[in-house]
Amino acid sequence: MKLIQVSDLHFVPPGTRLFGIDPRERLAAAVSDINERHADAELCLFTGDLADHGAPAAYGALREVLADLRLPYRLLIGNHDNRANFTEAFPGAPLDENGFVQGAVRSSAGDLVLLDTHEPDTHAGAYCAARQAWLRARLVEAAGRPVYLFLHHPPFDIGIPSLDRIRLLEQQGFAAAIEGAQVRHIFFGHVHRPVSGSWRGIPYSALRSTVHQVPLDFGDKRSMPYSYEPPAYNVILISGDLTVVHHHDFLNRDIVPPGTERYSAAD
Ligand SMILES: [Fe+2]
Repeated sequence: MKLIQVSDLHFVPPGTRLFGIDPRERLAAAVSDINERHADAELCLFTGDLADHGAPAAYGALREVLADLRLPYRLLIGNHDNRANFTEAFPGAPLDENGFVQGAVRSSAGDLVLLDTHEPDTHAGAYCAARQAWLRARLVEAAGRPVYLFLHHPPFDIGIPSLDRIRLLEQQGFAAAIEGAQVRHIFFGHVHRPVSGSWRGIPYSALRSTVHQVPLDFGDKRSMPYSYEPPAYNVILISGDLTVVHHHDFLNRDIVPPGTERYSAAD
């Protein structure tokens, strides 16, 4: 099974740029690349920060670009989103019984469980008791099938202080909710960087934004530093007990021309 993960689109109202970048142009380039290379993917997952300030006009612009995507997709929200504006712009988005943007997708490789970690008025993530109960119920339903979790905020530190301060704060409750479940991988966004490893024995991966990035800086910065490292999306291949995550810089099409000499004299 092939999945595509795109994250942190940070859409702004039309006519506006973000750090000099047009988020709409960036996503359109990603969509075009995905259509060309990965129209066979089962699902495309957008892991939050769809809009930079959650403005209705930004979600309207996002809807227009997504109309060109040739595969099914699901949208998650992040700290920069506005849940009410999002659900108004995307009335078909599944909500749980408490109004959180959460849902489970039965895929050919297992259950994809999509979580809502948004909390108003903070950039940190939340996963309250009501959401934990919802997740536990989904994991019970999935009993026997592999589970893949998708969410915006990582529920652990990645060693970059400015990001660790705004990770998912309910770490213990979240860990308890997934304890004993067959969680094979955690996919998240938020960090605007390619990061991978494991947490409590569960592999995880994150990826760059389609817009601005966070540089690799382990210093304790008061405000978040940003960079112009290239945008990317991830291609996820799952087959049985094998999960492979490819990080793809979709704007970089520099291929070594056929016939180019492998070695040449140094200057
Ligand atoms: Fe973001």
